[in-house]
Amino acid sequence: MKKLYFGSNLKMYKNIRETTDYLIRLQKLTQDLEHEKITLFIIPSYTSLDRASGITDQNQIMLGAQNMCWEEVGQFTGEISPLMLQELGIKIVELGHSERRHIFGETNEIIGQKVKAALEHGFIALLCIGETGKEKQCGISDEILRIQLKTGLSKVCEEELDKLWIAYEPVWAIGVNGLPASSDYAQEKHHVIKNILQELFGEPGKAVPVLYGGSVNLENAGGLIQQPDIDGLFVGRSAWDAEKFNQLIRDATEAVNMEVS
Ligand code: 13P
Repeated sequence: MKKLYFGSNLKMYKNIRETTDYLIRLQKLTQDLEHEKITLFIIPSYTSLDRASGITDQNQIMLGAQNMCWEEVGQFTGEISPLMLQELGIKIVELGHSERRHIFGETNEIIGQKVKAALEHGFIALLCIGETGKEKQCGISDEILRIQLKTGLSKVCEEELDKLWIAYEPVWAIGVNGLPASSDYAQEKHHVIKNILQELFGEPGKAVPVLYGGSVNLENAGGLIQQPDIDGLFVGRSAWDAEKFNQLIRDATEAVNMEVS
């Protein structure tokens, strides 16, 4: 079976107590999973990270931050530095989520600086990319993915690739107004992404995990994860209840196992 990745971005939804309750429950429910083959991760709000890291066994559930500044210290009001995240002992930094790009105006260049800083500070950099509905309509999705990858990864070298994850999250598929991508469409775009990674980094680029996100739910998770170029699922709403997320992880893993046997 291929190595699988399941994670959730909690966005701006859970407070400290809700986050710790959720993590305690999810840890209990997923304890028996084969953690060498299945990587789990949760990305809570900044304010919950300290408590979350105190109660979470990161060999079982890795923790991440939703954003990070590229500088270590300085006049950057409202920002969080890589050193501050290191203090918390978290493993992952999510960068370039569509909400950061489209609500907060983050550019590919800024995101590229953050990716480099995250890798230099020993974090896994989870770079999110994806085209908008309009870009899809204009038939330029592949070009957009190419620009996002080439700029976002322009400072990354081959030695850092083992700390790089990509999430393909088409903007039109994310959130309450989103429509999930079909398995075929997601596979097609994951294939494009894998080819670009190979073009940029040669053979080692092929090993970078590429996760799909955008309205993943109990119904579509199995079909998505069965696609050859989809290594994991990055889930929002359908993961925010620990029981539901546990079920989704198990159903999706089962779907991959059934395909193999
Ligand atoms: P939804 O699963 O709620 O569409 O959110 C996906 C997402 O943004 C994960 O980062």
